Amino acid sequence: MSFHSFGRRIDYLRLSVTDRCNERCLYCRPHQYAGWNGAADPLTDTELLRIVQVAASLGFRKFRLTGGEPLLRPGLVDLVHTLAATPGVECIGISTNGLKLPALAAPLRQAGARTVNVSLDALSPAVYRRITGGPLEPVLEGIRAALTAGFEFVKLNTVLMRGVNEDEIWPLIRFSSEQGVPLRLIELMPLTSRDVLTPANFLAIGEVIRWLRQREELVALPDARLGHGPAKYYRLVTSGAIVGFIGAMTNQHFCDTCNKMRLTADGRLRPCLGHHDEVSLRDALADTSSDEPLREVFRLALANKPWEHTFRDQYRPCRPMTAIGG
Ligand code: 5AD
Ligand code: SF4
Repeated sequence: MSFHSFGRRIDYLRLSVTDRCNERCLYCRPHQYAGWNGAADPLTDTELLRIVQVAASLGFRKFRLTGGEPLLRPGLVDLVHTLAATPGVECIGISTNGLKLPALAAPLRQAGARTVNVSLDALSPAVYRRITGGPLEPVLEGIRAALTAGFEFVKLNTVLMRGVNEDEIWPLIRFSSEQGVPLRLIELMPLTSRDVLTPANFLAIGEVIRWLRQREELVALPDARLGHGPAKYYRLVTSGAIVGFIGAMTNQHFCDTCNKMRLTADGRLRPCLGHHDEVSLRDALADTSSDEPLREVFRLALANKPWEHTFRDQYRPCRPMTAIGG
C-alpha cells in the first residue's frame, strides 16, 4: 500500500533523531534556544525502529536522519544498521553539518547509509564561523571522509543569505565541481526568529541563476535523478559543476511534487515543514500491544498534509528548525 496526498505519493520520511546541535546556524537556531532543556525525552532506538517499521508497512521507502545534528545521537551507527536492515526500507540518508563526519563517515556507510548531505554555507573560514559559530576545517575533512567512504551520493547544501554568503557562491560551486559532487543552493525559509530573517537578507534563486548565466552557460537537467528532494538541477557547461536550486519561497510549484513527511525529535509527525500542524505519536507508542494506533496517526497526519506550505503567508516560526528536523 502507499499514501497519496493531492496526487502526490508520500514515501519519504525524515526523522529528526536529536534536537541537539554543535553549531548555531543563523538560519536555524534562535539565540538562547531553550527547547533542549524542557524537551520531552528523545525517542529511543526501539521507538524509532518501530516507527520506521510502521512507516515501511505504509509504503514509505526512503528515510533520512536529520536533527539538530544527527551525528550527536549516541549509538547512531547501530541505529542506522538496524534501520537499513528493516524490510521495506530502500534508502537511508543522513543530513549533517559535517563536524563529526571525519570519524563517522566510514562506520555510517558500512552500517548501510547510502547518501549524505553536508551543510556548507561558505568556504571562507571567517564567513563559515559567522554563519555557524563553528570551524570550517573539520567539515571539509568530513566531506573528504564521506567521499572516501563511498556513499552513493554526497551533496552539499548552502542556504542563500544576501549580505552574508553571496560572495561564497562561486567558490562553493568551484569546490563542489572539484570534488565531483552536486551543490544545492537553498532559499532562506522562515525557520528561525533571528535577525537574518529579513527581506533584505533574502536572496532568490532566480537572481542567482541570472547572475550565474552571465558567467557560464547553464543547462537544465530535467530528468536528473539526483535524489528524492525538490531541487531543480543544472549543469554549468564550462566548469562541469552540477548545481541544484531549492526555491522553497519563490517557486510557486515547489510543493507540487512533495513526497515527504517529518518526524520531530519529540515524536510528532509533521506533514509539512511550512505548516504548524503536527500529531503526536507518543500515546500510540505507549501501546506496545498493537501497531494499529501508530498506523492510525500516520493516516491522520497524511490526511492533514496540506497542499502547500504557508511560508509566503505570514508564517511565523513557533519551533526552530533544530527541533523540527532539517
Ligand atoms: N532555510 C533554508 N534551509 C534551511 N536549513 C536549515 N534551516 C533552514 C532555513 N531556515 C537547511 C540547511 C541544512 C538542512 C538540513 O536544512 O541547509 O543543510
Ligand atoms: Fe545545527 Fe543544522 Fe541547525 Fe546549523 S542548520 S544549527 S547545523 S541543526
